[in-house]
Amino acid sequence: MTALVAENVVTGYGKQEIVRGVSLTAETGRITCIFGPNGCGKSTLLKAIAGALPVWSGATRLGDVTLSNLPVHEVVRHGLVLMPQGGGVFPRLTVMENLRMGGYAIPDRRLVERRIEALIDQYPSLARRRRTAAGSLSGGEQAMLSLARALVSQPRFILLDEPSAGLSPAMVNETLERITTLTEQGIGILMVEQNIREAMPIADKLYILAAGEKRFEGSPQDVRDDRQIMDIYMGGA
Ligand SMILES: Nc1ncnc2c1ncn2[C@@H]1O[C@H](COP(=O)(O)OP(=O)(O)OP(=O)(O)O)[C@@H](O)[C@H]1O
Ligand SMILES: [Mg+2]
Repeated sequence: MTALVAENVVTGYGKQEIVRGVSLTAETGRITCIFGPNGCGKSTLLKAIAGALPVWSGATRLGDVTLSNLPVHEVVRHGLVLMPQGGGVFPRLTVMENLRMGGYAIPDRRLVERRIEALIDQYPSLARRRRTAAGSLSGGEQAMLSLARALVSQPRFILLDEPSAGLSPAMVNETLERITTLTEQGIGILMVEQNIREAMPIADKLYILAAGEKRFEGSPQDVRDDRQIMDIYMGGA
């Protein structure tokens, strides 16, 4: 087991502090969920952990390796990859070109191609559309593409920013099932979700952020009901 640890992480944009000293721990083979109201800093925190934003103070570590303030490609090499909010597929690039982007930190291009071939079989809707521009895939297919792209680097940890947003109920279930399967392969998941009801049953651990601060940490069993989560969002207990 390897732990991904954030310790008192402070970050933001320009001079604007958004994340105000958040600590969390996620483990390989487990699903750790972050909930919180819109604009509270969930995506900002994930971006800082993934190396896409500087960590102003505090630190992030994966096992023994300090990740904070390494460039994104170094973070990817250490085994951590971010699937950004909205999937972040390149709409004008084809499915295959998007998948190759997932292996950009790997110098051995043949290895990247082999990994893509091994992966794409598990995503039949992508395998049928290798040369299709990603922008003309459905929302669900784009979600699968961004997940598959994240897997090309064979990460130990994937940070998922609202992977089920905007998907039909059936696709929400398929996406969350695929994510659960990844943990069975030993991958750690740190996931921001708004579909609390769907995410709770698969979560091993929960964090709730509000206004850039951690307001709750525990297991799904520690949460009484949705109303308690809303109370925490609003600043209560
Ligand atoms: N690139 C940016 N430059 C400046 N401010 C930003 C930037 N991105 C986000 N912010 C601000 O930072 C705050 C937190 O945004 P963030 O995207 O982390 O929220 P979130 O919790 O992910 O919200 P949501 O649930 O809507 O995705 C917001 O006030 C937002 O306006
Ligand atoms: Mg967000």
